[in-house]
Amino acid sequence: MKILAIETSCDETAAAVVEDGRVVHANVVATQIELHRRFGGVFPEVASRQHVLAIQPVIAQALAEAGVSARGVDAIAVTHGPGLAGSLLVGVNAAKGLALAADRPLLPVNHLEGHVYSNWLDAPGRAQGHPDDNFPVVVLIVSGGHTELIEMRGHGCYRRLGGTLDDAAGEAFDKVARLLDLGFPGGPAIQQTAEHGDPGAFELPRALRHAADHRFDFSFSGLKTAMLNLTRRLSREGRDLHDAHLLADLAAAFQQAVADVLVEKTTDAALATNARQVCICGGVSANRALRATAAARLDALGIPLYIPPLIYCTDNAAMIGAAADYRWRNQPWPDGLAIDVHASLPLPEEENTL
Ligand code: KG4
Ligand code: ZN
Repeated sequence: MKILAIETSCDETAAAVVEDGRVVHANVVATQIELHRRFGGVFPEVASRQHVLAIQPVIAQALAEAGVSARGVDAIAVTHGPGLAGSLLVGVNAAKGLALAADRPLLPVNHLEGHVYSNWLDAPGRAQGHPDDNFPVVVLIVSGGHTELIEMRGHGCYRRLGGTLDDAAGEAFDKVARLLDLGFPGGPAIQQTAEHGDPGAFELPRALRHAADHRFDFSFSGLKTAMLNLTRRLSREGRDLHDAHLLADLAAAFQQAVADVLVEKTTDAALATNARQVCICGGVSANRALRATAAARLDALGIPLYIPPLIYCTDNAAMIGAAADYRWRNQPWPDGLAIDVHASLPLPEEENTL
């Protein structure tokens, strides 16, 4: 099945053509990072207006690169939540118009399920291969808006194990980058600053590490406060917070603290559920420290680990095409014109119906 997929849940306008949930014929992402940089974060009104400008050219480019017309695909898929309502509306309305004009079915996709299925996409030069159909699979979704630990018992069959009690992991990166004056988006800025830093230079908390009642939950607000207190103490001591060595150490220590809790809880979840494989996905899964920490821990346990190539970690439409294929492969297709947007939309927790 060949699917044209559209994704506009946050600040990337994206369209892709994906076949059989794996083969990516085109993957176009128009990022709005430059527009939002001066606000230090995503400005919802600006995001939706930019989606309006970008959506048609992005879709046209994806179809052209894939060498198909809208009538040449079997279905159109679109993210209908979770995300910014105004941004989601642009993608959903464009998809409805196209589905009507081309007389194709329209399939709604949960953005989080998209991140999960980013692991199943073929990618040029991919070293790790794909997860196979050996369940249960423990999935950690770490993005700007979400930090979720999930047990996947089959395709489309999820059980939520835990998640963040406050900030999402990506949000913590973005806020700490702002504190250190490193710019937006925070994740890549912190990673780059941390490159020659010492992760052990400062002692930082690993929240909820031993909390039996929150075994698979995360909390990043304490770490954020610890970073604030640390920078205040350093300035009181007369240290220059713009000094490159000091910044590198601060960024490296913070990044490792986040990576440690994410990996520790994911590993614990994998052991508790007897997982056959582990997947990590979402924007923060692009982080080198997280990738290296996870690879070392899971390798030591002999549990196969999958993390998508960088282009599929952050928001894209190829992952939406993959998720649509798996979710709707054996299900009656919905009435596309009735699709609505949902700012908050959990992963469906249900028995395996696929
Ligand atoms: O998945 P995504 O593109 O959008 C959401 O669905 O939220 O994730 C964006 C988040 C941002 O918070 C960004 O700072 C973070 O992913 N991020 C990173 C890295 N690249 C992006 N965090 C840490 N290290 C990175 N290399
Ligand atoms: Zn995302």
